[in-house]
Amino acid sequence: SEKELSVDHRLNEVCALLKKEITYYNWVGFYFKNGDKKELKLRAFAGEPTDHTIIPFGKGICGQVAESNQNFSVPDVKAQDNYIACSINVKAEIVIPLFVNGENIGQIDIDSHTIDPFTKKDEDFLEFVNAEVAKILN
Ligand code: SME
Repeated sequence: SEKELSVDHRLNEVCALLKKEITYYNWVGFYFKNGDKKELKLRAFAGEPTDHTIIPFGKGICGQVAESNQNFSVPDVKAQDNYIACSINVKAEIVIPLFVNGENIGQIDIDSHTIDPFTKKDEDFLEFVNAEVAKILN
């Protein structure tokens, strides 16, 4: 629908802005739970296209957050065994769940080419971004 297209456009703009303004955010995307399927679907992103547009619950950092409802900051992706590599350049990743009316409906996912770049400030900031995004979702 026209409304969905406008939300997609705004989500893509959020991704592009974060990637542009924060040097160590090298890939920024929003995944959402896909209907009744136990999987996440990529809805918007900035950075290199990824093959991982569908991620089953439980798989990788993203799939784990779909089940845990918790922020997941990974300072060194090499140290994670349940990890889905999107690019050989990625050193660190952070995933923050996105809540609407208390329900985990998706997440923002950031990849970094810098090792151990994320602090509590990133978590707080990305929680704020997700809360703002929650207001524009249909
Ligand atoms: N690395 C993620 C997969 C998504 S890509 O980073 C875009 C994961 O392990 O879930």
